[in-house]
Amino acid sequence: MVEDAHAEFRLRPQRLEQFIGQAKVKEHLSIAIAAARKRGESLDHTILHGPPGLGKTTLARIVAAELGVNIKVTSGPAIERPGDLAALVTNLEEGDVLFVDEVHRLSRIVEEKLYPAMEDFVFDIFLGKGPGARGLRLTLPPFTLVGATTRYSLLSPPLRDRFGIVCHLDFYDEEAICLILKRSAAIMHIPADEAGLLHVARRSRGTPRVANRLLRRLRDFAQVVADGRITEETAREGLARLEIDSAGLDGIDHKVLLTIIEKFDGGPVGLDTIAASVGEDADTIMDVYEPYLLQLGFLDRTPRGRVASRRAYEHLGLPYTRRTSKQAGMWGEE
Ligand SMILES: Nc1ncnc2c1ncn2[C@@H]1O[C@H](COP(=O)(O)OP(=O)(O)O)[C@@H](O)[C@H]1O
Ligand SMILES: [Mg+2]
Repeated sequence: MVEDAHAEFRLRPQRLEQFIGQAKVKEHLSIAIAAARKRGESLDHTILHGPPGLGKTTLARIVAAELGVNIKVTSGPAIERPGDLAALVTNLEEGDVLFVDEVHRLSRIVEEKLYPAMEDFVFDIFLGKGPGARGLRLTLPPFTLVGATTRYSLLSPPLRDRFGIVCHLDFYDEEAICLILKRSAAIMHIPADEAGLLHVARRSRGTPRVANRLLRRLRDFAQVVADGRITEETAREGLARLEIDSAGLDGIDHKVLLTIIEKFDGGPVGLDTIAASVGEDADTIMDVYEPYLLQLGFLDRTPRGRVASRRAYEHLGLPYTRRTSKQAGMWGEE
């Protein structure tokens, strides 16, 4: 939604001091930034990784703001050919940030062109074909590549090795999400009390983007059914209507868990099978839904597939009846 995109922009912290939580990441970055500034050098290449909505794009912009440099924004899939990369890196000014979102999705040939650009600030281009072809080496201004990814493990080792600063973003605790909600409510002039915001914070999956989204939906709800104020009561009713449960799980989370439990006897079952059964994309389940289910301890990843834990059964109010394969074997069913 356009309105949502605009709101997200307004809510985005601009400087490191406005960025709530992630203390370790903030400290790491602020020291590296201060040192780079002191030396008058470009910041080391930086990779930000973690689940969606935790602040990777926000931090990339903050890094550029703190360094006092320009930021160019692109993404792995958008850089289709080496020529696209050449156009980007040759337009940078000294010290600039090149932000590459979804950096694990760079094509191989582009990635190979990126190595010398990152390491030696050079870009080799080849003009012509056959015997008359000649190479040309462009010298680039020192710049900082800031990469973001939800799948650090998919990064090729040579690319991974070229990032001097590695920051992992983890889910936020309730307190941090509550502070983020307070800040957002103030920016959007939404009247809300402490208990109301705490209720929302507990159901925000430790994710600022989710917290802000719920806040906007609750604002609508509170304006329509009440006096516009977000209290514990309006929060509870509003979230129930959005089908968000007490752990912050939505309809898709429930489908994922119920598929494993009811169709596959608790698992193990492969991700693709779950995805087909739920009717969602396997990558979306893996990137968006699974990390939080793993964090809650509702799901386990085993070599043979996903398994629903006892906690998941308890949360859904289902009896934990998982038979072990040994028992199943004894009954001669498998
Ligand atoms: N630490 C934070 N403090 C306040 N707001 C945050 C924080 N991290 C993220 N946000 C909010 O959450 C939204 C999503 O963050 P974003 O940087 O786009 O996440 P990612 O790039 O990791 O998916 C942003 O619009 C921003 O408003
Ligand atoms: Mg992002």
